[in-house]
Amino acid sequence: MQDIIQVDSHTVLYAVIGDPIRHSKSPLMLNRAFAEAGINGVYTAFHVKKEQLGDFVAGVRAMGVRGVNVTIPHKLDIMPHLDRIDESSRAIGAVNTIVNDDGVLTGYNTDGLGYVRSLKEEVEPELAGKRIVVLGAGGAARGVLYALTKERPGAITVVNRTLAKAEALARDLAPYGTVAAADSGALARLCADADIVINTTSVGMHPSTDEVPLDAGWLRPGAVASDLIYNPMVTRFLREAEQRGCRIHGGLGMFVYQGALAFEYWTGRPAPVAAMREVVLRAFT
Ligand code: ATR
Repeated sequence: MQDIIQVDSHTVLYAVIGDPIRHSKSPLMLNRAFAEAGINGVYTAFHVKKEQLGDFVAGVRAMGVRGVNVTIPHKLDIMPHLDRIDESSRAIGAVNTIVNDDGVLTGYNTDGLGYVRSLKEEVEPELAGKRIVVLGAGGAARGVLYALTKERPGAITVVNRTLAKAEALARDLAPYGTVAAADSGALARLCADADIVINTTSVGMHPSTDEVPLDAGWLRPGAVASDLIYNPMVTRFLREAEQRGCRIHGGLGMFVYQGALAFEYWTGRPAPVAAMREVVLRAFT
């Protein structure tokens, strides 16, 4: 691997945009990926306000920026500025990755697909036939559920304290696969029967409150307990699930693999995932 990226007249530009953006770890991760793969690219972060999105996209076209990651709060507002919307973004209703093919801009969403790849590579290689419970029915759940429908699982159930939101999500995803909806009252019974239980809510994100989204005693020993939260890296839910004899999966891999997929869409090359993970782990610890 090169230590210093040699920027020259062939260097291809990539960026992440958001508001705010200075907290983003994506530049560290993607620049390491380019260096590791020997690709002459530079990835930077731009603080773009909502009213500047049109100008930003014009700049991307004018300067031939090859790839852009889009983060909060622009994942929806960027969509009308693009030429094509991939199925992943149509299903999720949000874009986190733009590919620029000679001025034709396509929007993708790699969040849910990245999550599922992380789940498969880190803990459960085969999802076909598995019974999966997803807790929460917000934006994060939508991406995860969309990606899970691609894996031919035995059953997927989305559980939410507000049943109507789970039902609406299941209806929206019907074109991609069958998702059942249930309210939180059914969670204990569903967990007892599940191979994989995924928390997509923010419950457990604030260590001071030490909340758990569900009682680990409901889980089957040997089942997979997964939490999208990556700070803390091991939530109380995962700690208790591990004590129960479950295999655990934290949220850091989702961040690594959403970036790995973007890298692959932009470059057509396999992402150097181990190096990307190493740099992210260092940045978060
Ligand atoms: P995100 O984009 O991170 O998914 P979101 O769209 O605001 O965030 O969705 C948050 C999800 O977590 C929702 O499903 C929410 O449940 P409701 O639809 O009933 O509001 C769920 N959630 C948040 N806090 C929760 C809590 N304390 N207990 C249970 N569910 C919670």
